[in-house]
Amino acid sequence: MSPANVGYQAPSVSVSSTLPKRTVDSSVLIVPVVSGSDDSAAPTVVANPFLDAEAVGEIEVALEALGAKGSAESLTRVVVPALPVGSVLAVGLGKDSGDWSADVIRRAAGVAARSLNGTEAVITTLSDIDLNAAVEGLILGAYRFTDFRSAKTAPKDTGLRSITALSTGAKKDAAQRAADIATAVATARDLVNTPPSHLFPDEFAKRAKALGEAAGLQVEILDEKALEKAGYGGIIGVGKGSSRPPRLVRLTHKGAKQRGKAAKKVALVGKGITFDTGGISIKPAANMHHMTSDMGGAAAVIATVVLAAKQRLPIDVIATVPMAENMPSATAQRPGDVLTQYGGITVEVLNTDAEGRLVLADAIVRAGEDEPDYLIETSTLTGAQTVALGARTPGVMGSDEFRDRVAGLSQRVGENGWPMPLPEELKDDLKSTVADLANVSGSRYAGMLVAGTYLREFVPEGVQWAHIDIAGPAYNTGGPWGYTGKGGTGVPTRTMFAVLEDIAANG
Ligand code: BES
Ligand code: MN
Ligand code: ZN
Repeated sequence: MSPANVGYQAPSVSVSSTLPKRTVDSSVLIVPVVSGSDDSAAPTVVANPFLDAEAVGEIEVALEALGAKGSAESLTRVVVPALPVGSVLAVGLGKDSGDWSADVIRRAAGVAARSLNGTEAVITTLSDIDLNAAVEGLILGAYRFTDFRSAKTAPKDTGLRSITALSTGAKKDAAQRAADIATAVATARDLVNTPPSHLFPDEFAKRAKALGEAAGLQVEILDEKALEKAGYGGIIGVGKGSSRPPRLVRLTHKGAKQRGKAAKKVALVGKGITFDTGGISIKPAANMHHMTSDMGGAAAVIATVVLAAKQRLPIDVIATVPMAENMPSATAQRPGDVLTQYGGITVEVLNTDAEGRLVLADAIVRAGEDEPDYLIETSTLTGAQTVALGARTPGVMGSDEFRDRVAGLSQRVGENGWPMPLPEELKDDLKSTVADLANVSGSRYAGMLVAGTYLREFVPEGVQWAHIDIAGPAYNTGGPWGYTGKGGTGVPTRTMFAVLEDIAANG
């Protein structure tokens, strides 16, 4: 694998200020349309500088003839012989508001891309914000995962081959930045979608190393011997039921030195359970296969630090990623065992299925030794997250101010994290009769917040931290929607990158 070929290969992106004179037959012009004033009216093409009145007229006549409506995320494909493209794909933005949120554009572009195969897309953009969102949405929507299909079921042609974004300013950099962000999301999705047969801790660590080295990161990997020796009791305890031993991966982007000023240092921590059976506290069989996604936090953290390096963010970013497979076996930890987390806090493991917090506590303590200004940790941590917030809304906990900042940025990028509290009284639920802490509470209440409360015990004083629970949002078990297909979603890669950019800009 050459460095350039590590990770997801996105379609190429270019920017043009005019509609190309002639394109190949496989080209599609994607045109945003809005619904008419009343439900019976035909859609209209959103005004743009790339199509003249005649072309717009022809598109609208064709849409009307087909009974198109222009409702949000609706698609209508028409052939317009006067235009130099194979076909036109009208994508609905809903009612004409004159001003659409980035995520409306991103989703519309994503829906369009999901319907295309082996195509060269030419997309009509409306503004600068829209250029970013459109390119991002197109690449996200064009994502396919076919690594494990033989010729028997492999689709002949997949996704988009190339994208030409129509934009009046020369915005090649903006378009490329959007493409890089979407590529990072796709890299995280690839990792999540790789089945547990093929992605186990050692293999996961190797892939993180290859991605990190290709981006110029410093890479450190601790194997089971090094982990044992240094006292990573949580990672060892969770990993010891598996024949495939655990790892701790550290990826460092040194951006602060580049600018020679006292820039910020951000620690990222992500849960990397390559498969979660529950261990001896075994999970029910129904839907256990969803636990292939239990390394979604790790995947997003790896993709984010790699992206930070590619974008040369002028801050230090250090990812600390614990990787283990939670299996039941004769060597597995038992409910009632006591282990010592890295740093010395002892824990009574009352439930081996609450394993995420055990590997994360070790990693958070290690990350704290680097004395970061900020610590963002993300994990598919609790089923209670989906009970509280559903499948598409990450729960964001942590230091009040930073939590709100992270949730706000998450909403801005369309990943929609929502702030949640960590009520003081929940700490009492984690009292153990034999150790410093128990890993689960005796109560059924507030499972997501109890897990956050557990992690808080390991965050050093003075570090601004955020915990993002993505149990539901990391993995789409329902049908495709917007730019999100089935399987790994890459959430919260775009949230974390937005936070890093914000810290780089504002401290
Ligand atoms: N990986 C699971 C959480 C999860 C559940 C992720 C559903 C995605 C979808 C985690 O390790 C777990 O098993 N948590 C337990 C905690 C409980 C034992 C306190 C849970 O949520 O049931
Ligand atoms: Mn579990
Ligand atoms: Zn888990």
